Amino acid sequence: PKNEQTFNDPFSIVSHEMSNLAKSIASLIGSGHPTLNRVSSYYFEAEGKNVRPLIVLLLSKCLSKIPLNERNRIQIDDYDVSNQPKFAGTPSEKSIAGKSINDSITPLSILHGINPRVILDPLSKPMDNLPEFDTVNGILPKQRRLAEIVEMIHTASLLHDDVIDLSDTRRGRPSGNIAFTNKMAVLAGDFLLGRASVAIARLRNPEVIELLSTTIANLVEGEFMQLKNTVLSSEDENTISVDDESKEIPKATGKVPTKQHEYSVSLPSEVDHETNVQAAFEYYLHKTYLKTASLMSKSSRAGAVLSGAQDDVIENCYEFGRNLGLCFQIVDDILDYTSSDNTFGKPSQADLKLGLATAPILFAWKEKPELGQLIARKFSEEGDVELARNAVLEFDGLEKTKKMAEEYRFKALENLRVLPDSDARNALEFLTNSILTRTK
Ligand code: FPP
Ligand code: MG
Ligand code: MG
Repeated sequence: PKNEQTFNDPFSIVSHEMSNLAKSIASLIGSGHPTLNRVSSYYFEAEGKNVRPLIVLLLSKCLSKIPLNERNRIQIDDYDVSNQPKFAGTPSEKSIAGKSINDSITPLSILHGINPRVILDPLSKPMDNLPEFDTVNGILPKQRRLAEIVEMIHTASLLHDDVIDLSDTRRGRPSGNIAFTNKMAVLAGDFLLGRASVAIARLRNPEVIELLSTTIANLVEGEFMQLKNTVLSSEDENTISVDDESKEIPKATGKVPTKQHEYSVSLPSEVDHETNVQAAFEYYLHKTYLKTASLMSKSSRAGAVLSGAQDDVIENCYEFGRNLGLCFQIVDDILDYTSSDNTFGKPSQADLKLGLATAPILFAWKEKPELGQLIARKFSEEGDVELARNAVLEFDGLEKTKKMAEEYRFKALENLRVLPDSDARNALEFLTNSILTRTK
């Protein structure tokens, strides 16, 4: 029966917040441009896993169990309703940036289907400060907003990622680049980042602003670390052009940067194999931190900062997000080998074809040094992908990778043990364990 299922669902304690997530995000990303609205809301329409907001909400709820006298950053005891920040000015709903709405209805905006009445220019509105202290269900309004922001940043990165990876599906539907063109997907990603930045600023917490801004930069750094070439090359660029097919696309010259990346796997031959492999694993893990674990760890940290927790608790929440994020992406790299497009909802078996050496192939390389050449040339020659795949099977690359993911799961569970024993902590434990058994 339905009731029983809700009872057994460890996440039901934040189901109210989770079910409002999409609606709240929708209100943060409205624009006056209908096509932009369609593209920027596209990935939110399909069921995503929403792992990141789930982590933030559960962690926030868990932290709310810490007694107030053990929180040193905000004086929750002093809370007084009459002290709530008031809006800075009177909303002037009939004007946008000083212009009367009627003035701004021009034939041009009507032609483009833009309704100036729904232009949502956040800066033209009064300062929308979130209440500082009134928790609902143990969660502060700013922590709820943080969950929304984190999903917005993640979705922006997916729109860009699918352009970079030449993907054609996401969440079981055509990816943004296919449904709307590369250009619109990139712009919609930028737009989501812009709106996320407004929402971040409105949290009015410099430490949280710094954490989330760093995370956005980290995503790009991680993505750069896994670009096919750190040196520009003509083969890497512009291989598909969904837009402007008639147009000749200027090729990258490849002349600009010349220095090999310092972590490159093609280390000098006099360095022994073991050192090479170790360096490659370090590179892989650092990249994995930047592209996936950074958002989880720094948003966990931000949630803890907002709760007023003490430094050791904040640090522990950060470590939890980091270990969980590493585990999550390592499992993603296993699933790329084992999943089918249908269950994954996105292209599987894609990494080798994209030239990416993830943990399974690195474990195989450790046992079979000849694979180093294939890794160095990004599996670009005929038969390379097949050879690599077979080597992964022969040397138990997937099993070894799973062990690695399990180590991070174990560390994440240890981090949780420090937090207050509660339903929310149980749910976080369940979430951590289920990452290893997930299929998508
Ligand atoms: C998915 O990885 C992608 C990421 C985790 C991050 C992508 C980041 C960027 C494109 C940098 C730009 C960032 C912003 C904030 C706009 P994946 O390709 O391994 O996974 P997939 O199988 O889901 O595509
Ligand atoms: Mg990618
Ligand atoms: Mg991708």
